[in-house]
Amino acid sequence: MDAFSLLKADHRKVEELFEELESASGKAKLRVFEQIKMELDLHAHIEEKIFYPALEKPRQTHELTLEAYEEHEVVKKLLRELSRSKSAGKEWQAQAKVLQENVEHHVQEEENELFSKASSALSQEDVEKLGERMATEKERQQGRGAAKKSRAKRAGAKKAGAKKSAASNKAASKTKAAARAAKRTGGTKKASKSQGGSRSRKSTKSGSKKAAKKR
Ligand SMILES: [Fe+2]
Repeated sequence: MDAFSLLKADHRKVEELFEELESASGKAKLRVFEQIKMELDLHAHIEEKIFYPALEKPRQTHELTLEAYEEHEVVKKLLRELSRSKSAGKEWQAQAKVLQENVEHHVQEEENELFSKASSALSQEDVEKLGERMATEKERQQGRGAAKKSRAKRAGAKKAGAKKSAASNKAASKTKAAARAAKRTGGTKKASKSQGGSRSRKSTKSGSKKAAKKR
C-alpha cells in the first residue's frame, strides 16, 4: 500500500470513531475515546517517524510539514488532557469536539495540500516505500502494544494472587491467634472451675462435721 492510501485509510477510520463518539453515551464515550487516542497516537507516530522526515527537505512540502508537526502537538495535548478525565461530562465533550475539529482540519490540509505537493516532490517508488515502512512500523507498534497489554494483565493477576495469599495468611494467623487465646481462656476457666469445685466439697465436709457435733 502506498503512503497516501495508508494514511487516508487511517483518516477514514478516525472519522468513523468520531461519529461513534458522538452517538455513544456515558462511560461508552470514554471507551470510544480510548480507541481514538490509540489510533491517533499510532498515526502521529508513523507520520513523524517516517512520512514527515521525507517531506521536510523538499522545498514544495517544507512549510506544510513544519505546520503539520505543530498541529500534531496541539492534538497530542488535547488527547493527554482528555484521557485524564474519569467521566465524559459537558466540559469533556466540548474539549472532545475541539479535538475533532483540529483533527478534521489537519486531515483536510494533508489530503488536499500536503499529499498533492508530496506526490510531485517524491517519486512513485518513494511513495510506495514510505507506505511499506509505515505499515511495518504500525504492525511493530501494535505488536508492542499487545505485548504490553498482556504483560500488564499478567502483572495484575500476579498482584491479585499475592493479595489473596496475603489475605489468607492473615486469616490463618488470626485463626491461630484465636485458637491460642481460646486455649488460654479455656485453661483459666477449667482452673477456676476446679478451685470452685474443691471449695464446695470443703463446705460440704465442714457442714457434715457441724451436723455430727449437733448430734
Ligand atoms: Fe497527521
